[in-house]
Amino acid sequence: MFERLQKKWKVGSLQLVFIISTFALGGSLTGYAGRKLINVFAIEQDWLWILVYILLVTLLWPLAVVLVSIPFGQFLFFMKYIRKIGKRVGLAGSSESRVKTDSELTTHDSRLTTRIVIFASGTGTNTQKIIDHFRNSSAVKIALIVCNNRHAGVLKIAAKENIPSLIIEKEKFFRGNAYTDELKEKQIDFIVLAGFMWMIPSLLISAWPNKILNIHPALLPKYGGKGMYGHYVHEAVIANKEKESGISIHYVDEICDHGPVIFQATCPVLENDTADSLALRIHALEHKHYPRVIEEILMSEV
Ligand code: GRF
Repeated sequence: MFERLQKKWKVGSLQLVFIISTFALGGSLTGYAGRKLINVFAIEQDWLWILVYILLVTLLWPLAVVLVSIPFGQFLFFMKYIRKIGKRVGLAGSSESRVKTDSELTTHDSRLTTRIVIFASGTGTNTQKIIDHFRNSSAVKIALIVCNNRHAGVLKIAAKENIPSLIIEKEKFFRGNAYTDELKEKQIDFIVLAGFMWMIPSLLISAWPNKILNIHPALLPKYGGKGMYGHYVHEAVIANKEKESGISIHYVDEICDHGPVIFQATCPVLENDTADSLALRIHALEHKHYPRVIEEILMSEV
């Protein structure tokens, strides 16, 4: 359990001890203050007691925890923790209007941020949408863009957005360490594929289990697998006179376009559609849903 917490919060064992002590002391302090309040106001009615209890948990407990966190040196951790909970229940979030630079991030900050790498091979329109979506997020950072094609448009996006990029080579990717060391050095938590044209080696899959997502421009399990990419997918859909196509967001496993599907959205295939016109409709669906689905998955993991 402790190991899971350490991983989840990305903290060392000593810091975990401090955090748990802060929770325990903060909780005791809240309990003590609560008893005092109930005595001072001589509360007897059940409903009033429940009201006081809700007030204690929502106001006094965060305050007590933040106070106790100061002597334990965990103030930053708890501010961020409480902000995260606030965001979840819709109390905070839009107040952060500015992107933090790396130098502004303290060690505690960066440890609490989920660091994403995007793997892409092409133009990178999905990559751009994902970057835009998380631009002001303190919870998620696009830490790296990995590309297997030095002429890909996505590298220009990386440069424009000041995001480090890494051009990878086939030999090392498939027969070397699959760049696991480089990704670990960058403290990557999650891998997002957005038009990445190579298979993902098992070394990467086992190093980031259930933490690699892909988007496919069709409704899997149909029109997936070898050879089903780019316009080939749309041509096959049109040739089979499908009435509907769409997108699939799925976890990545060792088999191409095979891992569990998390999300699908559909669009019509029109009678006079060409691969290009259908691709446009599919792209719009991808841009609308991929960043949001990524965020939902990351939030459900915290
Ligand atoms: C998308 O259609 C995606 O489904 C597929 O590759 C395409 C990438 O497009 N896997 P872009 O480079 O993000 O514009």
